[in-house]
Order: sequence, then structure tokens, then C-alpha cells
Amino acid sequence: LNMNSKIEDVEIIEIPRVHDERGLLAVIEGNTIPFDIKRVYYLYDVPSDAFRGGHAHKELNQLIIPLSGSFDVHIKDGDNTRIINLNKPHKGLLIVPGIWREIDNFSSGCVCLVLASAEYNEEDYIRKYSDFLAFKNS
Ligand code: TYD
Repeated sequence: LNMNSKIEDVEIIEIPRVHDERGLLAVIEGNTIPFDIKRVYYLYDVPSDAFRGGHAHKELNQLIIPLSGSFDVHIKDGDNTRIINLNKPHKGLLIVPGIWREIDNFSSGCVCLVLASAEYNEEDYIRKYSDFLAFKNS
């Protein structure tokens, strides 16, 4: 278990880009992010009033990238809260295990890409905030 993380451990990762007159090419490879990618998923057709997340992970690392549009990520470690507006396709948010996250304020047409360090496993989720606080205090 990796539940001792603080919101300071959540960081924006700048994705290297190649820029020429034909546009921008952003690339994630090798040591761009501190985990091996085992899963990729994306959110789209998200209603602007949708509320997503509302959970923490015990082991999973994720990089969240606003491929198009923008949204707000609220992160909590049990002591502190931070709200990060993601709005640039070359800036991803690295969320480490042991961090509660909620996502809202989706812009219309927004696409949210998530790179994850493991395949989907419901056992890795903490879906009740009271359970999350109990994990953080144990
Ligand atoms: P959830 O992770 O709760 O979504 P979000 O954090 O974006 O609000 O997942 C929503 C539903 O989708 C839930 O029933 C589990 C399912 N799901 C999968 O089957 N595979 C996946 O890789 C993910 C991320 C979710």
C-alpha cells in the first residue's frame, strides 16, 4: 500500500513537443512519466455538469491529460485540497496512489486522456471518502 502521499506529490508533467510549421507533436515515452503504461482510457461526450472521479487508488499511478478542452481536478490528501485547472494538451497531471480526486467543470467537446500504471481493478479503488480518511489515518 502506498497511502502516505500528500497533495505536493501530485505534479504537472510537461510533455515534450516537436513544433514545426505543420503543427505540434507531443510525445510520451521512456522516462517522460515515472511509471510503465499498462492501460489507456479516455472520457468524451462528458456533460458540462458531470462530476467524475470521487475516489482514490491504493496502488495506481495515473497521468491525466486534457487532449482537448479543459476541466478541473480537485485533489485531497485528507489534510489539504488543491484545485488544478487542466487546459493544455501538453501538460498532464500525475496523480500518485493515496490521493482523492474529483473532476468537474468540463468544457464542451472536452476529451480527457488517462494513462494508467495497471489494468482496471475495482479492488484498487477507495470509493468512500470516510474509508479514504480511515486509510490515511491508519
Ligand atoms: P470510474 O473509474 O469510477 O470513472 P471516473 O473516475 O471517470 O468517474 O469508472 C466508471 C465506470 O467504468 C465504473 O463502473 C468502472 C468502469 N471502468 C472500467 O470498466 N474500466 C476502466 O478502465 C475504468 C477506468 C472504468
